[in-house]
Amino acid sequence: MLTTRDHSETPAARDEPRQPTGPPASSKASWLLHVLFSATLTGLVFLSALASRTLFSATPSGATASARARPNPETEDEKHGARTYAVYCGGCHGDAGDGKGPAHLWLDPRPRDFTRGVYKWRTTPSGSLPTDADIARTIRLGVHGASMPNWQLLSDRDVTGLVAYLKRFSPKFAENPPPRPMTIPPAPAHVGQGESIARGRVLWDKMKCASCHGEGGKGDGPSSATLVDDWGEKIRPFDFTRGTPKGGARPEDFYRAFSTGLSGTPMPSYADILSDAERWDLVSYTVSLRTDGHVAGGTPPPPTPLTATPEPPKTADATQARRTP
Ligand code: HEC
Ligand code: HEC
Repeated sequence: MLTTRDHSETPAARDEPRQPTGPPASSKASWLLHVLFSATLTGLVFLSALASRTLFSATPSGATASARARPNPETEDEKHGARTYAVYCGGCHGDAGDGKGPAHLWLDPRPRDFTRGVYKWRTTPSGSLPTDADIARTIRLGVHGASMPNWQLLSDRDVTGLVAYLKRFSPKFAENPPPRPMTIPPAPAHVGQGESIARGRVLWDKMKCASCHGEGGKGDGPSSATLVDDWGEKIRPFDFTRGTPKGGARPEDFYRAFSTGLSGTPMPSYADILSDAERWDLVSYTVSLRTDGHVAGGTPPPPTPLTATPEPPKTADATQARRTP
């Protein structure tokens, strides 16, 4: 409000005779523009994303839909997922799943393009597809620091359907055997304690984490300014001192991030280089970098259990069993 008023008065202050009825037409126009823009850039982006079905259904579909076709849902889960997706997700991720929904131009980072089958948050090795449970976890948790909301309010059936439908956007899911998740063990008791932190510090230097994340972990390392993701967008390394982790705030979530890497981003996987014990020491060190007193040991677990869909690991096994013969 203050900003818009200041803005409308700037030209008026320059013109000597001030119009008694309000700002001159030109400044009124710029005021309108300003209001339009600031509103769009904040809440409206989200609202328009959610309401895109209503807002954009009046325009010819070619104007907003991309050239790609949307997949034909076949199973009951996929059909339910397609309907849920159309209401809640298409506004950002696009009807064709290519990340080019009506709201995408205003968003940084950009919504995920599902057609490439590249997923950041997985329990599977670097370069692999995610499991159903991985996709479900991201949908439930949302992505902190990005516009991706958390979808706690959707039912288990909705999430199961969404996972099934998202997988239809990329042929990779049908072409490849189901991915094998790695076990993410619970954090050992010594994580976060003095000696483990000290050992983690040595590994942090040895692995050159600072080249991207910065000496103090603020995300400002020498290469940070030039990093881009696989979609060609600039990407910032995580700020360990203040950032809210995108992939979850438990020690196990950090462990997972540098065990699997974040596909599509410069963040590598260290699963083949670091032992289990070394990875936990790195968790201790990275967690100790926080400057706001928020320590991972005391971080509350995510509000919903990681297995949000009914029996997701079994689904993967079942698919595998179906495919093996
Ligand atoms: C307001 C915009 C917006 C809406 C609405 C939205 N998303 Fe997203 N979503 C994003 C953005 C932005 C990202 C990328 C975050 C990043 O990479 O840091 C993302 C990322 C994701 C990912 C991450 C995949 C990975 O591991 O790399 C999944 C899965 C996803 N969205 C699913 C959904 C589903 C399902 C819905 C609907 C229920 C939905 N999103 C609605 C903006 C949105
Ligand atoms: C080549 C650059 C690069 C190097 C080297 C690197 N990272 Fe990263 N890291 C990134 C980027 C970029 C992201 C952010 C990805 C995103 O936002 O999607 C990231 C994210 C992370 C995250 C996830 C935080 C979250 O939001 O959930 C963790 C944990 C992490 N890095 C730890 C490490 C550790 C520990 C090392 C060293 C062993 C390391 N990184 C080395 C670039 C790098």
